[in-house]
Amino acid sequence: MARSAGEFDSWYADRIESPVADELVRRVLGLPPDLQSTSLLGGAGLDEVVAALDLRTGQVLVDLACGRGGYGLEIARRSGCRVVGIDFSAVAIEHARRRARALGLADRADFRVGELTATGLSTASADAVLVVDSIQFAEPLPDALRECRRVVRPGGRVLVTCWEAVDADDERLSPRLRQLDLGRQLPRAGFVDVEVADRPVWRLAEQALWQEALTIDAGDDPAMRSMQDEAQRVLATFDRLRRVLATARVPHSAPASLP
Ligand SMILES: C[S@@+](CC[C@H](N)C(=O)[O-])C[C@H]1O[C@@H](n2cnc3c(N)ncnc32)[C@H](O)[C@@H]1O
Repeated sequence: MARSAGEFDSWYADRIESPVADELVRRVLGLPPDLQSTSLLGGAGLDEVVAALDLRTGQVLVDLACGRGGYGLEIARRSGCRVVGIDFSAVAIEHARRRARALGLADRADFRVGELTATGLSTASADAVLVVDSIQFAEPLPDALRECRRVVRPGGRVLVTCWEAVDADDERLSPRLRQLDLGRQLPRAGFVDVEVADRPVWRLAEQALWQEALTIDAGDDPAMRSMQDEAQRVLATFDRLRRVLATARVPHSAPASLP
């Protein structure tokens, strides 16, 4: 998968033109019909995330590295919260704004171009931050976790879905994935009540998605061809990663300065 904002812009431009890729992801991962995902969080995982966030009407969720805004908009729809989506892809953000209007959620949604490490949001302005399958792109990772900590109010939550290496010394995995150890990194960023839980059932749904993607005739659809390239890479190292859901809270009494 691409890494710079420009590469993600092209990747999104292809994906927006590919109903086949979106239909495949929605069907195999069991997502609601209106949700446009560019990740691997499925319907059961989303239900769990919504319950753990426990957001109320009017509260603010930051969907960080939101892509086309699919998860944040769905959570806003279910909970009545407001969503602020941040992503460094201007193409994704423009599409997220269009989706918010199409879904009748524009009055509760605000999508802005920004970085994982520098959102541009005010300190303690959010009740929660959600990062779906994107934290591995942060450079450097500790700065992104500190940025999450900064924008969440005392007592608020952060939820991160991602992958961690079974063996952090396994050089067949990318350094990007090997760097993740949220059980250690979230407390260092100032979070408390940190829990990092394995989600093997989510991982099985991902495997089904990659396997099915390889059975489809991609024709001249660049989004499907990109998905098939990624499927080959992911399936080759599939058992070397654990799927995890990390949850943490900002302490009620903040230290004088962040660690
Ligand atoms: C796998 S996609 C997930 C998108 C969305 N969270 C979802 O689940 O549909 C990864 C996202 O991270 C964004 N991204 C990657 N690096 C970023 C960075 N440094 N700052 C902000 N966004 C970034 C990409 O543009 C992309 O939208």
